[in-house]
Amino acid sequence: MTTVLEALDLTCGYGKIVAVRDIGLKLDGGQVLAILGPNGAGKSTLMMTLAGLLPRISGDVLLDGKSLPNGRPGLANRNGIVLVPDNRALFTTLTTRENIEIARVKGQNNVDDVIDLFPDLQKRLKVKAGSLSGGEQQMLAMARGIVQQPKIFLVDEMSMGLAPIIVESLLPIVRRIADETDAAVVLVEQHVSLALEVADEAMVLVHGDVSLSGPAEDFRADPSRVEAAYLGAGVEHEH
Ligand SMILES: Nc1ncnc2c1ncn2[C@@H]1O[C@H](COP(=O)(O)OP(=O)(O)OP(=O)(O)O)[C@@H](O)[C@H]1O
Ligand SMILES: [Mg+2]
Repeated sequence: MTTVLEALDLTCGYGKIVAVRDIGLKLDGGQVLAILGPNGAGKSTLMMTLAGLLPRISGDVLLDGKSLPNGRPGLANRNGIVLVPDNRALFTTLTTRENIEIARVKGQNNVDDVIDLFPDLQKRLKVKAGSLSGGEQQMLAMARGIVQQPKIFLVDEMSMGLAPIIVESLLPIVRRIADETDAAVVLVEQHVSLALEVADEAMVLVHGDVSLSGPAEDFRADPSRVEAAYLGAGVEHEH
């Protein structure tokens, strides 16, 4: 295993407004990192900064040990960083297949290889994305990302608007993506215990600070530590 993604003292935000402070992270290919934390903690801000969509305020993001040029989303994407945004960004009037094809660049994975990871989409290839169920739309959003052969796969809150039982069926797909494509996966998730089941590492963000991080298995046995981290840093922040 070699480190593919590294963040060093990464501070993110909007202009001069700091939303996330001094993040350090290190991820190997095939590993899944779950980013947890309450609303407004800065999870999406961190994801957008890793994808280059927001310029970082300070610190560094390294891909394969090399610093990524700041705030260059196209370049980050060509270098293998792919973000699945929380709104899924599908073309609702195009079919499932067309949505995947449109994301594909010549020489990348072909659609049928990608569908192997999402067998439920096989029978839905000719259906317009707008007619898919919420869970299927989320699978399609991920399939569109996977066609680009990501080295770093960033999935922001895939459970938005989905019932927990659907989330429970989607998370193992994320695990398979990491295992079978060797991508490093960063997953933002509201469902703490479900996320801990598929993750290797976990990080809790509260008010832009890391309040807890470590191997997911350490928290799996005792999710109350994670809950305490949600609350603890909130109390600290008030002083
Ligand atoms: N465009 C923006 N300009 C200024 N501040 C912003 C902007 N977008 C978000 N913020 C602020 O940055 C902070 C972090 O927001 P962010 O969306 O990253 O949180 P989050 O953890 O993803 O929350 P959620 O769980 O609700 O998705 C919040 O205080 C938010 O108000
Ligand atoms: Mg968010």
